[in-house]
Amino acid sequence: MPAPGSDRLIVALDVETAVEARVLIASLGDAAGFYKVGLEMFTAAGMDFVRELKSQGHRVFVDLKLYDIGETVKRAVAQVAKVGADFLTVHGSRAVMAAAVAGRGDSSLKLLAVTVLTSFDESDLRQMGYACDLPTLVELRVRNAMDAGIDGVVCSALEAARVRAIAGPRATLVTPGVRSAGASAGDQKRVATPAEAIANGADYLVIGRQVTRSSDPRAEFLKICEEISR
Ligand code: C5P
Repeated sequence: MPAPGSDRLIVALDVETAVEARVLIASLGDAAGFYKVGLEMFTAAGMDFVRELKSQGHRVFVDLKLYDIGETVKRAVAQVAKVGADFLTVHGSRAVMAAAVAGRGDSSLKLLAVTVLTSFDESDLRQMGYACDLPTLVELRVRNAMDAGIDGVVCSALEAARVRAIAGPRATLVTPGVRSAGASAGDQKRVATPAEAIANGADYLVIGRQVTRSSDPRAEFLKICEEISR
């Protein structure tokens, strides 16, 4: 039976092959039911693997962070919608988001805009030539996403409360960069604990390495469920 709180956790299948992903999914068993297929998994196993997850009754977040000319984005989003994926990320540029909304059509695919990667901090923004600070850029991207008809945003758990205030109660907030106290942050610069993320208004938490690199992924996953339902 799924553990209380598990419906808000999305496990990032950041592994090299579909075989490894299947082992991870089997080790999580019925505890987890929502998986993220990101760039690594998608380039390894593609849409067939997304179909496989859907055919097993899982919810699937296709995290491709699409960014291209409008027509290409529209047609790619239509393909993702066709397989019954649940969430898809696109970049927070206006033309990309408008094309994604057109491509999704009347499917149930939820579109999420990427605000600023949780592996970026202020110095990364300066290096990329942004003159504004991180909160200002996040705020701008959230407003643009809502204006474009996007369903929600991916943001740092540390920004979730401010994002919620701007995006409103109906927006879906998904927060990666989540770590239990004491777990390694890896390359993430803006991390929060699962409980902080929920308290800040996140609807879904993306959990990657803390679970996928654990010697006991199921125990680690259940520990996080307990942390957020406490
Ligand atoms: O291993 P970890 O928990 O850091 O994994 C986070 C996952 O969330 C990765 O798959 C990463 O690509 C994704 N992600 C992120 N920051 C964003 C959007 C997605 O870390 N802004």
